[in-house]
Parts: sequence; structure tokens; C-alpha cells
Amino acid sequence: MTNLDINDTIFISELEILKEKFTDLYSCIDLEKIPVSIQLIKEIESEFADFESADTGGRGEVYRIAQKNITVRSEGIKNIFSLLSPNEKIENLSSDMKLLDALGGDGLLTKVISNIIDSKNLPQILTTDISADMINAAKKHNIPALRLAAQYLAIKDYCLDGVILAYGTHHIPVPQRLEACKEAYRVLKKGGKFILHDFESCSPVANWFQEVVHKYSLTGHDFSHFDYNEIKSYLYKSGFESFKIEYMYDPFIFTGNSIADVKFQFTDYLHNMYGLYKLDLQFGEQEVHDVIYQLANKYFVYDYQQLGLSQSFGKKTVKINQIGQRWQLEMPRVAIVGIGIK
Ligand SMILES: C[S@@+](CC[C@H](N)C(=O)[O-])C[C@H]1O[C@@H](n2cnc3c(N)ncnc32)[C@H](O)[C@@H]1O
Repeated sequence: MTNLDINDTIFISELEILKEKFTDLYSCIDLEKIPVSIQLIKEIESEFADFESADTGGRGEVYRIAQKNITVRSEGIKNIFSLLSPNEKIENLSSDMKLLDALGGDGLLTKVISNIIDSKNLPQILTTDISADMINAAKKHNIPALRLAAQYLAIKDYCLDGVILAYGTHHIPVPQRLEACKEAYRVLKKGGKFILHDFESCSPVANWFQEVVHKYSLTGHDFSHFDYNEIKSYLYKSGFESFKIEYMYDPFIFTGNSIADVKFQFTDYLHNMYGLYKLDLQFGEQEVHDVIYQLANKYFVYDYQQLGLSQSFGKKTVKINQIGQRWQLEMPRVAIVGIGIK
């Protein structure tokens, strides 16, 4: 630790918080790996700047505005935690489990699961992320968080019950993906589970990213998504003898008081979540919402059979329904998930 310079004081303060408030998670940190971890982040951080603040060319602030709504993605996030749970039953999660959300952003997954399950069963979750801004935001919500790259975890071997790489795995460059999976394997206890979640190449979500987000977001979005065999090879090569790959429903769901309300929440969310701010240069405020609505309706169409999926996972298109006095808008997405057991 003596080699650290002044810029590393924030990192040290993150460690101090863990040491004081989250002692079980702190006990998993491998202090000897920290200097290499910090050095690696310095070397590669410019490649991963999309989620930093706007003044450094990122879209982190608007992304986090969207994440204030912690119910929109709760179905998919609940599915991920179910897959991680003993016997895949979410009620089997327990407070003695230690999990890592390695692309954790501002801690959304921790916030969502805390909102879904009883606090006495809540696992201890360490949020790590390569973005300093994301980790700062997580800390503000009292979420245990540390700035680490998924490719090099300053975490001890055989320490964790579960590792999640989700909602952004495509941001890891292809040549570095196996390394991230090997790190997940290394830090898991025997019997621990790894979730490798993304959206399949050529799927509606991948097309949305490639044709809409890449064109209209201020950062662009030129990333390669995953396919079945790629996930299989990472799981196998990183050491998992037992693994499976599944498709998982992962919709966006909005509830509100009227059709106009859910439509506005929806387009506002997509605008911020994907930073589609180049549209604002071409269109007025209302038009931007209309254009986003039309684009979402065009891209998020799931003809499950035609997509080669064995079952219908949920809605086929963006749908608005009345439920009692309330309205609900649901946008279908299907994720591909590799589940490895060490
Ligand atoms: C789409 S965001 C998802 C954040 C959060 N999990 C959520 O669902 O809102 C992807 C996150 O992955 C982070 N990220 C990208 N590459 C990473 C890497 N190699 N190591 C750690 N974090 C990384 C980004 O900084 C960003 O915060």
C-alpha cells in the first residue's frame, strides 16, 4: 500500500468504509492485489469511460437518473438472484451469503433485491465497477462498493458464494472476457455460482444497441454482444465443470395513473438509460419522446419462434394494459444467461 499516490486516497477511503461497516465483505479483499488492481485501472480506464460524467465524455449522470426507478427492471434482476440462490429459490437467499456484483454501477441490483426480499435474508453484496463516478454514487446510498475492474479482482480465492456479471458484460472487450470469467471462478467458494448475463447478438436488444443507441447516444455504442457458444466456451475455459445456459425474461415494466403517464415514464427512461441525447439536437422535447416511442415499438418485437426460442417468455411487443385503476406498460427483452457452479 505504500506505493499509492494522492489520487488513490479515494480508493483507500472506500476500503476504510468496508473495513468499518462491512467487515465480512472486507475480509474477502486481497490487500496484496490492490496496487496491481489500481495500476490496471489507470491503464485501461480510458477504454471504459462511457459511464463516467458528461464532462469527461461519458453518460453516467443520465444513466443514474434512469436508475432512480428501481422497479423497472426488477423482474429480470429477481430472476438473476433466483438463479444464484440455493436450489434456485429466491427464498433460500440468506444473510450469510457473500455476493459480488462486478459490473455493479451505482448498486442498482443491491437496491432492487433489498426492495424485494426480507432484510433478514438479504445477502451481503459487494458492488464493484471500473467507473469512479458509479462507485461514488453507490457509496452515497450506503452500498458497500469498491472501484475494481472485473478483469482483475482484488479479492481472495474461494471467498464468495456468487458472482454476477450482468447488464453491461458486452462492455468488456472480447479479448478480456475470458479473464473476467476466470476471475469470477477464482474468487468463488466450492459450490459458489457465477452468472454471466447479456443479450444475444442479433437479438432485438442487440439490434437496438447497434442501430439506435450507437446512432443517437452521445458516447456511441459499438460493442459486440454474446452468443451461446461464446458463453459456453468462457464457462468451460474458466474452469466450470458444471454449467448451463438459459434464456431469461428481462422486461422493462412501468406502472402509472394513465396511458400518458406510463408512456412518458417509458420514453423518459429510455432517453436517460441509453443517453439518446443526439435526438435532442434534431427534435423538440415532445417529438423526442414520440420518436423514442416509435423506435422502441419497432425494435422490441419478439417473435419467439422466429428468434429460435423454445418458448414464449412474455409479451411479444410493447404493450399497455389497465390493471384495476392503474396502467402498466411492458417492453419485452430476453437475456441469455450462463450459470456456472464451481
Ligand atoms: C450498463 S451499466 C450497468 C450498471 C448496473 N449493473 C445496472 O444494471 O444499472 C454497466 C456498468 O459496467 C461497468 N463496467 C464496464 N466494464 C467494466 C469492467 N471491465 N470492470 C468493471 N466494471 C465495468 C460500467 O462502468 C458500468 O457502470
